[in-house]
Amino acid sequence: MNESTMKELMNRIETENIPMNVAFEVTYKCNLHCVHCYQESQAEADLTTDEIKFIIGQLADESCMNLVITGGEPFTRTDIFDIAEYAIAKGFLLTFLTNGTLIDKHIVLWIKALRRADLQISLYGTTAEKHDTITQCSGSYERTIETVRLLHQEGIPFHVKTPVLSLNIHEIRDIIEFCHKLGIKHYHDPMLIPTTKRNKRPLKYRLSDEDLRAYLEMDLTDVRRRKDIWRHWINQIDKMTAYKAGMCGAGRRLACISASGRVYPCNSLRLEAGNLRLADFHSIWHESPLLKKLRSLTGAEFAQCNKCRFMLLCERCPGQAYLEHGDMLKPPIEYCRFNQMIYDVITSEG
Ligand SMILES: C[S@@+](CC[C@H](N)C(=O)[O-])C[C@H]1O[C@@H](n2cnc3c(N)ncnc32)[C@H](O)[C@@H]1O
Ligand code: SF4
Ligand code: SF4
Repeated sequence: MNESTMKELMNRIETENIPMNVAFEVTYKCNLHCVHCYQESQAEADLTTDEIKFIIGQLADESCMNLVITGGEPFTRTDIFDIAEYAIAKGFLLTFLTNGTLIDKHIVLWIKALRRADLQISLYGTTAEKHDTITQCSGSYERTIETVRLLHQEGIPFHVKTPVLSLNIHEIRDIIEFCHKLGIKHYHDPMLIPTTKRNKRPLKYRLSDEDLRAYLEMDLTDVRRRKDIWRHWINQIDKMTAYKAGMCGAGRRLACISASGRVYPCNSLRLEAGNLRLADFHSIWHESPLLKKLRSLTGAEFAQCNKCRFMLLCERCPGQAYLEHGDMLKPPIEYCRFNQMIYDVITSEG
């Protein structure tokens, strides 16, 4: 794709609100019980195979291109192969978010044959003791690591993702080194969110101030990159309130579909736009009063953030704000804490 076609496409995505990326939570079920998990158990039944295929067809009609298949654990569904092959035939690029424990050699070869699928595997430590403490499932570490090795052997595109919790902060370097030695892409993220029902129980695993500071002082690539951006702008920081906070792509380029067919602007912003068991995606996406309202936000509505000196450097997440306060326009406090800490660390480095 040349540059002008790319620009034209980006312009269409923005102006016509094309849902390019959709996270599809194909099941509420999971074989693990991670201590920090944001998913809540639900009484509602998962969508059937036919319902999912029907929705995938509707997403294709809306020019959606990237499907993130998540859950729960997507590989607990025995029809996941049928669903994924259907999506590939419809032209989608797939990314599976998975704990990797249910993937064997046979499934790895199936993924390889799909050719248009990528994976994100969650890993919490480099020892069974650490990883299994977080997943609350003994044997999960061995199974996840075996999948990582198989995917690597077969040359399948994937990366390892590590949420950084108070329980595994001291393992981060070891996980990075393990991935680095094998040449596997890795990223880590210390932003923990409340559950989908706004329960704060996962937040007790957020890093303490002391650990967050230690994390920001480590020489880790992702942290270094962020700090470089801050260093570049730090002398300008007090002039930054001239800018207004903006809304992210949620409900414009992004959507999330729950395992029972509820449509949300993204997987954190759990405000329901509609239910695919009652209406089609086209009408929800174009007619939902919630989505219309989201798309009409100008930035002036983020009143508190607009007064903040860190605003321009802040990656504030309206979904996180909603889960924390029940109000997406308020500042998500974990971002405020993170930004203050990154500022303190940089300024104390001189
Ligand atoms: C909800 S899981 C679903 C896919 C799959 N079961 C897995 O664990 O990868 C997707 C990702 O969200 C992360 N996650 C779970 N709860 C979280 C929370 N409260 N805050 C931030 N990330 C969380 C998981 O660690 C995992 O990497
Ligand atoms: S494996 Fe994924 S869905 Fe299952 S409990 Fe862990 S984070 Fe949640
Ligand atoms: S989230 Fe917090 S740090 Fe970020 S702009 Fe808003 S008030 Fe400032």
